[in-house]
Amino acid sequence: MSKKGNFGHSAKPNQNMRIIIILFVGMIVGFFIGVSFPSFSLTKLNITSYLIRDFAINGNNTTDRSTQKSIENNSTRNQNVKDISKIWVPSNPKGAERLPAGILASESDFYTRRLWGLPNEDLASIPKYLVTFTVGYNQRNNIDAAVKKFSDNFTILLFHYDGQTTEWDEFEWSKRAIHVSARKQTKWWYAKRFLHPDIVAAYDYIFIWDEDLGVEHFDAEEYIKLVKKHGLEISQPGLQPNRGTTWQMTKRRDGSEVHKETTERPGWCSDPHLPPCAAFVEIMAPVFSRDAWRCVWYMIQNDLVHGWGLDLALQRCVEPAHEKIGVVDSQWVVHQSVPSLGNQVKDGICKNLTLAYYIFTCGSINNYFYSILIGATRGREGSMERGTIKVSTRVEYVQV
Ligand SMILES: *[C@@H]1O[C@H](CO)[C@@H](O)[C@H](O)[C@H]1NC(C)=O
Ligand SMILES: *[C@@H]1O[C@H](CO)[C@@H](O)[C@H](O)[C@H]1NC(C)=O
Ligand SMILES: *[C@@H]1O[C@H](CO)[C@@H](O)[C@H](O)[C@H]1NC(C)=O
Ligand SMILES: *[C@@H]1O[C@H](CO)[C@@H](O)[C@H](O)[C@H]1NC(C)=O
Ligand SMILES: *[C@@H]1O[C@H](CO)[C@@H](O)[C@H](O)[C@H]1NC(C)=O
Ligand SMILES: *[C@@H]1O[C@H](CO)[C@@H](O)[C@H](O)[C@H]1NC(C)=O
Repeated sequence: MSKKGNFGHSAKPNQNMRIIIILFVGMIVGFFIGVSFPSFSLTKLNITSYLIRDFAINGNNTTDRSTQKSIENNSTRNQNVKDISKIWVPSNPKGAERLPAGILASESDFYTRRLWGLPNEDLASIPKYLVTFTVGYNQRNNIDAAVKKFSDNFTILLFHYDGQTTEWDEFEWSKRAIHVSARKQTKWWYAKRFLHPDIVAAYDYIFIWDEDLGVEHFDAEEYIKLVKKHGLEISQPGLQPNRGTTWQMTKRRDGSEVHKETTERPGWCSDPHLPPCAAFVEIMAPVFSRDAWRCVWYMIQNDLVHGWGLDLALQRCVEPAHEKIGVVDSQWVVHQSVPSLGNQVKDGICKNLTLAYYIFTCGSINNYFYSILIGATRGREGSMERGTIKVSTRVEYVQV
């Protein structure tokens, strides 16, 4: 009984003890934070001096000046004063000029991070290449086959146009992939919004691929080797000639590693170094180097949907284009033309079109289709030369 009583009484002091210990530990932790923070901010980042700069920029003209001067005059002034004199850091990206250069992170990547531990130990391996597919769930098996052709050196990024994302978890690799979902958009819409050059700056090469490519004869690592060997800034795998409907330039050539030019039908190429005879790849499976993509991204108009016409303009981004744009023959793909989002759109459009538009949008991808497209694009060439390039050749824009 008395024991119980004693126990009951001793419970309170125990609790108090615990609170005291917690407070004590808290104080010690607080002390160390307090000790480390000023040295961090002052010696490493000079945050105080930058705060002062901020004020000098934003505050009232007159008060700023007096503040600044009195600080300059103060006996405690040190090298901070020098910093105050150069308020802007012009080399910083637009909008961040005020920040000390040391805390800028102007570029990013798609690497996923752990929620604990040391940041520099987060990544077991650092993928150097990025591959994106614009996908619908119906194409999952084809995408599964394609993804398996890309090694661990690739970050996999899927753009979902049908809103189905978690369904893909049936594939083991899906949990490592990045999934971006926005309904009924085409790959250039996603590319413009999610592949800003600063966001994908970590990657040497960026694949922006359709979902309907047959990759049986393709290996991504081998492809990268060839692209590097031949100095290709913009490339695509050769296309297996199917139904004789592709461009001469993008057709796969037997026994060749890479080709950079071709001959088309008479009258098709005004210059043998210009599209579609050279400096030309199609938009279904392009591969860009980091630098080339930095240029191409800017050229993608915000209203560009299908991307038609972009292929003819890619050559503006590399110099000399006829040497740095090419087709890799020994790693090749088949364009399967399965029903995809593009086709759904086409079907929608094709129900209500004049004959000319019908040929343009609804004819299968054949030479006639393309000859009209070239004509349409050529019509714009004059204005393109003057710098008002517009590669938005969505059907309603094109005058046939
Ligand atoms: C700056 O200070 C003057 C005098 O104190 C005041 O009249 C003026 O509105 C201020 N300007 C701004 C932008 O705050
Ligand atoms: C700020 O100060 C400068 C120099 O004293 C003066 O030329 C300028 O007109 C002032 N600006 C404003 C908005 O008061
Ligand atoms: C000048 O330095 C003294 C001593 O460190 C400090 O108390 C004072 O606030 C400083 N004045 C200004 C305007 O910074
Ligand atoms: C700075 O100090 C000097 C002398 O100590 C004085 O003559 C000058 O007026 C001061 N300047 C300002 C802006 O306070
Ligand atoms: C990944 O890239 C490195 C360096 O280029 C290469 O040595 C390695 O073989 C690549 N991994 C695979 C699976 O090919
Ligand atoms: C077909 O196109 C014409 C002209 O663009 C338009 O006025 C009409 O509403 C369309 N019809 C349908 C069913 O979409």
